[in-house]
Amino acid sequence: MPGPTHGGTLNDLDTVREAWGAWPIVPPNADRYVIQALHSRRWAISSIVTQDAPELFEQRFAREFAAYLEVPTVVPTDHGSSALVMALTALGLPSGSHVVVPALTWVATATAVFRAGYVPVVCDVDSRTGTMTAEALRAALTPRTRAVIVVHWACTMADMDALLAVAAEAGLPVVEDAAQAHGALWRDRAAGALGDLGCFSLQQAKVLSVGEGGAVVSRHASWRTRLEELRADSRSWRPAGEVRVGDMALAETAGIMGSNFGMNDLAAALACAQLELLDAQHDIRNGNYLRLVEECERIPGVSVPVPPEQQTRLSLYEIPIRFADAAPGEAARLAGRLRETTGLRSYLPRHPLVGSSLLNVGSVPAIADKAAEFDELHRDRNYPAAEAIAASSVVLHHSAFLATDEEMDTLVSALAALAGERRR
Ligand SMILES: Cc1ncc(COP(=O)(O)O)c(C=O)c1O
Repeated sequence: MPGPTHGGTLNDLDTVREAWGAWPIVPPNADRYVIQALHSRRWAISSIVTQDAPELFEQRFAREFAAYLEVPTVVPTDHGSSALVMALTALGLPSGSHVVVPALTWVATATAVFRAGYVPVVCDVDSRTGTMTAEALRAALTPRTRAVIVVHWACTMADMDALLAVAAEAGLPVVEDAAQAHGALWRDRAAGALGDLGCFSLQQAKVLSVGEGGAVVSRHASWRTRLEELRADSRSWRPAGEVRVGDMALAETAGIMGSNFGMNDLAAALACAQLELLDAQHDIRNGNYLRLVEECERIPGVSVPVPPEQQTRLSLYEIPIRFADAAPGEAARLAGRLRETTGLRSYLPRHPLVGSSLLNVGSVPAIADKAAEFDELHRDRNYPAAEAIAASSVVLHHSAFLATDEEMDTLVSALAALAGERRR
C-alpha cells in the first residue's frame, strides 16, 4: 500500500485540520471561492449566463472531480441520496425490480431503491470488513433481481473483482455507493469508477464535505445527458460553444423525466476548496490508520479492518474498532470510556438495515405494495456477520486520524487500557 507510514507533522496538519477530532474544517481557499460565487449572483445551475460568471463553480467542481476520479462523467447533486435515486432511475428498470443492497450502510441506500420504484433485497456482509461478499450477493439473487448496489463501507472497499464477476455472470448493472469512499482506489481505480454508476455524498461528516451535497459519476460518457436531465427537470447543459451571455445555460432536451436535484453554487465553491485538500488529508489519515492496524496486533481482543491488498488507497470514513466477545450493551460502555480517555467522539455503528427503525417501510402508503413485498422477502433472512459487527464495534470518525504521532500514541494507549480493563 503506497503512502506514508507515519503520522503527520504539525506543519502538514495545520493546513488540513483545525484540532484533533474537529470536523468539518474550513479549507484555505473556501472564503475566496464562496465569496466569488456569492457575488457572481449565479447561485443555481438554472440561471442566466453573465459576462462576469460564464462558468459556475458547479461546472468547475464537476470537471475537477472527474479529473480526480479519472472518469468522463460527474453530475453534482444536492445530496448523496438524490445521487442514488438518479443512478437507479437512470438504469430504467421495470417497476418492482429487485435491487440487492448490503446490510451495513446508511438507510438512504435502501430508501433510494424504493424512491426509484424498486424493492431492495438485503444481503449479509463480510465478517471482517462489513462489505458485501460475492457469496452473499449470489445467495440474495431472485428471479426479479435487476441491479446491485455495492457499498464501500466505513473504511474498506468491497471486493470489486469478485462482485463485478458475479454481476457480469448474472447480467446485472452495478451501482457503487461510494458516499463513504471519496478517493479510495481498487487496483489504482477510483471507487465509483469501477461499476456502471457511482454515487457520492458531500454531507457534513464526509471526507469531502460541503454540508449537503452529492454527485453521480460514471466511467461511461454516454450516461452524462441522461444524468443531467434527471437532476435538472429534464434539462441538460447546452454545448459550451453554443452558450452566449444572456442565455439560460440549460437546454430543454427532455430525454427522460427529471427531478430538481442540482447542487447550489455556494456549496460547489466550497466543494472545489475541499477537493484541494483531500489527498493531503488521505495521506495523513491513512498513514495513521496503518499504524493502528499494526498496533492492534499487539492489543489482545481489539481489532480494526485490515485493508485488502487490492485496495491501493484507503479512504477512511467511520472506523469500526472491534472488541472481541463484547457482551450485549458493552460497546456503549466502551464508546463512553474511549470518549472519556481521548476526548474523541466515539459512538455505536448503525443497526443493520433489516430491523433498523429508520427503514420504516410501512409508513408511506404510496409504496404499500413494495413495503409488503420487502417484509415478505426478508421474513426468513438472517444477517449474522452484520449483526456481530454492529454489536461489538465502537466507531471513530475519520477526523480522529488527522493526528500527530503523539495524538496517535494517546489513542493506542487508550485502546490498550480498555483491553486491559476488559481482561480484569
Ligand atoms: C453509504 C451512504 N449512502 C448514502 C448516503 C446518503 O447521502 P446524503 O446524506 O448526502 O443524502 C450516505 C450518507 O451518510 C451514506 O453514508
